[in-house]
Amino acid sequence: MTDPQKVLTERVQQALGRAFGSEYADADPLIRPSQFADFQANVAMSLAKRLRRSPREVAEAIKAELSDFPGTVEVSGPGFLNITLADGWIASEADEMLGDKRLGVGLSTPPQTVVIDYSAPNAAKEMHVGHLRTTIVGDALARLHEHVGNTVIRQNHLGDWGTPFGMLIEHLLDIGEPAAIAQLEAGQGTEFYQAARAKFDSDDDFKARARKRVGTLQSGDPETLRLWHVFMDATVRYFNKVYDLLGVTLTDADIAGESMYNPMLQKTCDDLEASGTAKISEGALCVFPPGFTGPDDKPLPLIIRKSDGGYGYATTDMAAIRYRVHDLKADRILYVVGSDQALHFRMVFAAAKMAGWLPDSVSAEHVQIGMMLGKDGRRFKTRSGESVKLMDLLQSAVDKAYALIAERGYDEETRKEIARAVGMAAVKYADLSVSHDSEYVFDLDRMVAFTGNTGPYLQYAQARIRSIFRRGGLDPDDATGPIRLGAAPERALALQLLGFGTVVEQATELSEPHRLCAYLYATASAFTDFFEQCPVLKEGVAPETRASRLALCALTLRVMETGLNLLGVPVPERM
Ligand code: ARG
Repeated sequence: MTDPQKVLTERVQQALGRAFGSEYADADPLIRPSQFADFQANVAMSLAKRLRRSPREVAEAIKAELSDFPGTVEVSGPGFLNITLADGWIASEADEMLGDKRLGVGLSTPPQTVVIDYSAPNAAKEMHVGHLRTTIVGDALARLHEHVGNTVIRQNHLGDWGTPFGMLIEHLLDIGEPAAIAQLEAGQGTEFYQAARAKFDSDDDFKARARKRVGTLQSGDPETLRLWHVFMDATVRYFNKVYDLLGVTLTDADIAGESMYNPMLQKTCDDLEASGTAKISEGALCVFPPGFTGPDDKPLPLIIRKSDGGYGYATTDMAAIRYRVHDLKADRILYVVGSDQALHFRMVFAAAKMAGWLPDSVSAEHVQIGMMLGKDGRRFKTRSGESVKLMDLLQSAVDKAYALIAERGYDEETRKEIARAVGMAAVKYADLSVSHDSEYVFDLDRMVAFTGNTGPYLQYAQARIRSIFRRGGLDPDDATGPIRLGAAPERALALQLLGFGTVVEQATELSEPHRLCAYLYATASAFTDFFEQCPVLKEGVAPETRASRLALCALTLRVMETGLNLLGVPVPERM
């Protein structure tokens, strides 16, 4: 265990136990970074009342039990404990981290099975920017959970079923399969949908055909199912192009769309009705989870079978949650979906609990994704008011990155590769670096910038470290220290690096990748300070100093590289 905050927590808890009795040994010592020391512990203030002593006395008593502590402890103000770690301790922990493949990141014990429902675009429309964030945040969570040793089951809950498919299939027949396939593969799902919709609204004959087609689709007519597959396969090929460019880990094996649950829907409803969880209300089968009321104070229904006998979005989600708990054996289910569906998920979780399908041992969580806004502060749209095509947006990020590096002396091939990596880093990092539930403004120029808290800045920081080793003809793996801390920026960098384990564990546990982003940005900044003030390869640097600084460079590189990988941000060797 190298993380100072964890070490301190443990040490202070031991001190609490010794000073006040074992019942105090699990109190939270409230360790926080401090501007006056490395850390401060605020526990004395919180325990004073319970102990009937002044906070200062409590702080002094804790301090007395910390005499063997590797550093200095001071009591200040009303009862803060200011803690400064000894340089020697930091250096030896950093040395240990250098030899640790996991860089201080713990494994989850016991490992959990984590189902992550993410991306989930709708096939009846184009995959649009709204699904960009659910895809990117979900993928980072999948990578994080795998890294801490959990079993991750990705579930791409595609919108691939429902009444619009009647008109989509009829339109496909009208224009012919080859033309339809070409259009869908090219990402023109929205245009396809709009053309079908226009005919549906203006042409009674088409409308009748579309309605009939919904029936044959639902009854499982083989030819209709084949046409549905033609439509879906072409659409999924387009989704896969987007996933490929983004470097997202989703594959076809992770597709578990709404259609997958069709065979379970009737039983889902029957079981809910038989157990008394659902009842008929105004002709529809509904669950009324306690605590949910509408504007008129009437109980709010979760409709699982409409009065015309049709199933809906909620029916599928009830079937899905049962399947995920019962068949996939999930310990934890994360739904990475827009925050506008918060009520839906609260009701689904509550209904599943009522039915006994979601035991207390399993946690179902809605990881709410905030809306992406345009620079005008409104929902992100094109100038003509349509939603923006994802592929176009990604391409414009790559183009912008290309323009920024065009001057550099690389061959065309390398330039394209870097532009792609930088463009994706820009878009992905912008999505990840703000807390997932807050709205954020899509501003491509800011995202692609090489300065500030951006993906390209972090890529650049690690590429610069690589170039130090390249210039010296050295391999980072050979930089084994030992680390010694002289100048202040060396100490600050080493202390920062030791925090990696905790931040990865927290980002995973709390579903908050933005914590890892903030940490990596702070690390890159600490490295910049170090690099500006502490020459590494310059002539005249003493050999031990050089070895130590190279080791700090190597450790920073590994932390940055591992961290960016966990976020799904590409890590180019040079930029
Ligand atoms: N397709 C849905 C949408 O775009 C998201 C599905 C999320 N997952 C779920 N189990 N409901 O809004």
